[in-house]
Amino acid sequence: MKKVLILFGGNCTEHYVSCKSCKEIIDNIDTKLFTYEVAGIDFDNNWYKFNDDLSYLENGNWKEANIYKIDNIVEYLKKFDVVFPITHGTYGEDGRLQGLLELFNIKFVGCKTLASAIGMDKEMSKIIFKDLDIPIVPYIVLNEKDKIKSILKEVEYPVIVKPANGGSSIGINKANNKKELEKSIKEARCCDRKIIIEDFIKARELEVAVLQKGNEIICSNPGEIKSANEFYDYNAKYENADSYTKMATDLPVYIVNQIKEYAKKVFINLNCSGYARIDFFYDEKNEKILINEINTIPGFTPISMFPKLMKTENISYQDLITILINNA
Ligand SMILES: Nc1ncnc2c1ncn2[C@@H]1O[C@H](COP(=O)(O)OP(=O)(O)O)[C@@H](O)[C@H]1O
Ligand SMILES: [Mg+2]
Repeated sequence: MKKVLILFGGNCTEHYVSCKSCKEIIDNIDTKLFTYEVAGIDFDNNWYKFNDDLSYLENGNWKEANIYKIDNIVEYLKKFDVVFPITHGTYGEDGRLQGLLELFNIKFVGCKTLASAIGMDKEMSKIIFKDLDIPIVPYIVLNEKDKIKSILKEVEYPVIVKPANGGSSIGINKANNKKELEKSIKEARCCDRKIIIEDFIKARELEVAVLQKGNEIICSNPGEIKSANEFYDYNAKYENADSYTKMATDLPVYIVNQIKEYAKKVFINLNCSGYARIDFFYDEKNEKILINEINTIPGFTPISMFPKLMKTENISYQDLITILINNA
């Protein structure tokens, strides 16, 4: 039996989403095939073995549970055949954790260092998407030292302002005028020093799940986000019960094929491993597809799109976990 370490948490805004994804993996991992341990990383980058009731993960208060500090992290990691990092966000998804694992020859689920780093940085991803001839949303980058004033002149409202490195819509706002833009920049700066300002796209939001199974690359049909809010902000994603996701079954076949082709192209050319969720905008009126982003550790919570999309490919949650671990 393979010995697996399921790793969650981390020092980032998506910490609590990671706790929920982790609980779901524990609930579904095939214990006939794998033995496992669970470890959490706290906001100070301390690592702990977690061995307690899963409600602590559900509620995010796992530091109050039965935990044991791991002093020698590398020695600990080496005990396992495979590490499954479900560590969404900076540090855990952006190549830093992946670099540590690669450095010590530890097998793990998901993209390697470079694909993770590019996938996390929204500017770098756009550069690659553009190079692959995949249409992107027009954008401006605001670096730490850039003068806001000169950039303000270039902006045509409304725009979306986002931290270049982030996730779960944290620090993302729509700005309709200069005042809102300045406020949004300030908010995004709390998450990252580099900021992306994009044209606000009024379009349908479609997501595709890509899974590697041996030499085969499985690409799901697109699922659709039906956001309760004007855009899929944190509240709409995780708190507002009026948001929902569904399969986008009404799309013209050529649009479905085009989206899937783009998703596969990104996965292959970015040299992704394991899995990724690739997100698009579909402007129905102009029949235009734009790529938004790639997620190299997609959400695995009960409401997350990736496992749902895989189910439509006849891959159960349990099989999905098995494929990911065996593919590491
Ligand atoms: N250019 C845009 N126009 C309109 N809405 C956008 C745009 N970019 C992002 N959004 C909205 O914000 C959400 C989060 O943005 P995204 O770039 O996916 O960041 P995250 O990594 O936090 O998910 C998207 O799901 C979408 O609803
Ligand atoms: Mg997103």
